[in-house]
Amino acid sequence: MKGKNPVSIPKKYQEILFSIGTYAEKLGTKAWIVGGAVRDFYFGRDTLDIDLSFEGNVDPLAGFAVKRWGGSKHKFSQFSTFRVNLTTGLKLDMVRARRESYPRAGVLPEVTPSCIKDDLFRRDFTANSWALSIMPGSFGVSFDPFGAQKDIDAGIIRILHPKSFLDDPTRMCRAVRFAGRFGWKLAPKTEELLKEAVKQQYPLLLSRERLTREFLKINKEKEIKRILEMMRMYGMLQFVYPGLEWHDGLNRVKTVDERLGVMVCSLGKSGEEFLKSMRVKKELAQEILEAWKVSESCHAPLRALTPMQQAIIRAVHPGLKKYALEPCFLRGRDLKELGLAGRRISCALERCCRMQWDGKVSSREDALKIVQVCFGSPNCMGDVPSA
Ligand code: CTP
Repeated sequence: MKGKNPVSIPKKYQEILFSIGTYAEKLGTKAWIVGGAVRDFYFGRDTLDIDLSFEGNVDPLAGFAVKRWGGSKHKFSQFSTFRVNLTTGLKLDMVRARRESYPRAGVLPEVTPSCIKDDLFRRDFTANSWALSIMPGSFGVSFDPFGAQKDIDAGIIRILHPKSFLDDPTRMCRAVRFAGRFGWKLAPKTEELLKEAVKQQYPLLLSRERLTREFLKINKEKEIKRILEMMRMYGMLQFVYPGLEWHDGLNRVKTVDERLGVMVCSLGKSGEEFLKSMRVKKELAQEILEAWKVSESCHAPLRALTPMQQAIIRAVHPGLKKYALEPCFLRGRDLKELGLAGRRISCALERCCRMQWDGKVSSREDALKIVQVCFGSPNCMGDVPSA
C-alpha cells in the first residue's frame, strides 16, 4: 500500500465511512472504497453513490450502517451484495471482495471470495480499479495496483485483461460512455480489442434487457453526442438498433425519456420496432408511441398531447407551427352538424389535422370554413384546392 494520499475522501462522508471501517476492523474485516467513487473523489467531484468492498462478511456491516444512520438495505443474493440507502442520502453498494470467472461469455460471473487486489482486477477499467482504505489505521490511504491514477491523469480507458470485453460485453458500452463523458481516449490495445469485439459481435451475447440498460445509461450522459459518435465510429450502434444515429433533436430536449422519444421518432417507420426492442416501462413506451404516431403522420393530434410528447415532436420537427400539436380544432360532431356523414367525416378530419399541422388553419373558425369550402358539395371528398 502506498503512503501518499492523492485522493481525499470528502469531509461530509468521513464520519460515516470511518465508523463503518472501524466496525469492520472490529470484525477482523478489511474495508475499502472502490470503483467510480474513488475516480470521482480524485476529480474533486461529488457522488452520492459509493461502492465499498470488504474482505469479509458484508451482512453485519450493512446491518450496522442501517441501524446507525437509518435507511434501508436490499440484498442481491447471487453476489452477497447489499444496496444500502441511508437517510443521509448516501447510497452504499457493499460487496464482499471477490474474484470472478465467467462460465460463458456475456452471462453473469461466478464469484469466489478473495482479497482487494483481486476485487480491483475483476473490474472494467483501470480508472475504476482504485481503492481507498476506510480502516481507522489507514483511513484514506490509496491502493492503486493497476495504475488508475496514471491512466486518469492521461485520460485513458484501459481494460485490465484481454478477455474483458468477451467476459462482459456491457463493458464495450461502458468504455465509450466513460471515454465520452470525460473526453478520454481508449488505450491502443483496448481500442483494438473493442474493434475485434464488434467484429465478433459480442454485444449479441447480451440479453436485450442488459443491452437496453447500458444504452439507457448512455442516454443519461451529458456528452451523449460524443458517445453516440464513438459508437457509430466503432460500429456499435447497429447492435442497439440498425440505422440509429445522432439526431440534432437530441440537443433540443432535456430529459432522458424525451431523448429516447427523439431517437424513436428520428428512425421514421422503424421507430416503433426500435421502441419495442427497448425494455422500458409500459407507460413510458405508450407515451412515446403516441408521440411517434403523430410525428410519423405529420397531422395535428386528435387528442391533447402531454408536455413530453410535445417536446419530442417539436425536437424532431423544428419550426413546427404554433397550433400543430393542439388537438384538432374540429371533432366528428362538428362535421356531422355540417351535414357530413360516413367516410367524408374521416376525410374532412384528416384534411383538417393535416392543415393544422402545416399551419394553414389557426382557429376553429378557419377549420370550419375550409371544411365548408372543400366538403360543401354532397359527394366531394375534399380534393378541392387548399386554403
Ligand atoms: N463494474 C465493472 N464492470 C461492469 C460494471 C461495473 O467492473 N460491467 C465495476 C466498476 O469498477 C465500477 C463499479 O463496478 O466503477 C460500479 O459500477 P457503476 O456504478 O456502474 O460504475 P461507476 O463507475 O460508479 O459509474 P457512474 O459514474 O456512471 O455511476
